[in-house]
Amino acid sequence: MATKKIIAGNWKMNPVSTKEALALYSGIKKNSARLKQTTAVVFPPAVFLATLRDKGVSIKLDLGAQNVFYEEIGAFTGQISPLMLKNVGAKWVIIGHSEARASGDTDLEINVKILSALKNGFKIILCIGEKTRDAQGKYLAVLQEQLEKALVNFPAKKLGQLAIAYEPVWAIGKDATGVETPDGFLHNSIVIKKTLSQIFDPKKAKTVPILYGGSVGVKNAESFLVAGHADGLLVGRESLDIASFSEILKIAEKVK
Ligand code: 13P
Repeated sequence: MATKKIIAGNWKMNPVSTKEALALYSGIKKNSARLKQTTAVVFPPAVFLATLRDKGVSIKLDLGAQNVFYEEIGAFTGQISPLMLKNVGAKWVIIGHSEARASGDTDLEINVKILSALKNGFKIILCIGEKTRDAQGKYLAVLQEQLEKALVNFPAKKLGQLAIAYEPVWAIGKDATGVETPDGFLHNSIVIKKTLSQIFDPKKAKTVPILYGGSVGVKNAESFLVAGHADGLLVGRESLDIASFSEILKIAEKVK
């Protein structure tokens, strides 16, 4: 049986008002009501989670948080604990996003955040990706190292709570310096799977979904899912547009 595709919308630091967040969430919720083959999840800024949850979570559209702290409670100014996120309806959490790494998340912090999120029952999207691409394939060592360091002490029996998003940093956002191809993703996802099978039992490692992220939109979603064999997509900018994100959900629903 084909597993469900995961379509995740990372809203990043958008929008600026609760009203806009509600409108975006409601629009996507309406268009995800009939999904069968697709797991849809949106990651709004944490300040909006409680309001969106209170407006009626949908069983077809999960809520997630864009980051999480590793401690559960205490004197940690500015941090958000996994217990708090659970209490406002988040079921998923993104850890290791390149933008969070750029603002200070280290490999060690990413590892302890993952272990804490795991303990608290979250589904985790671990983001990895190289900053620059070289023709010799040296960048693959970056992916391997990010995986190995992030997954220290990760219990294999909890692999059902893990997905990996491959997001080459140079392909992210409106200032992207290049585009990843479905073939390029496929190649790198094989390296990711191989690395996972060196860390865990290969049979169990095979079950971890590998998502693609980096300038994904209506135009290229299908090619990453079909030609690139991606198990899902982590969408940035186009997840802020109801029509575009809904169309990507529709595309995922159709692919086999
Ligand atoms: P864009 O789709 O805007 O390139 O963002 C990708 C991303 O970083 C998703 O987490």
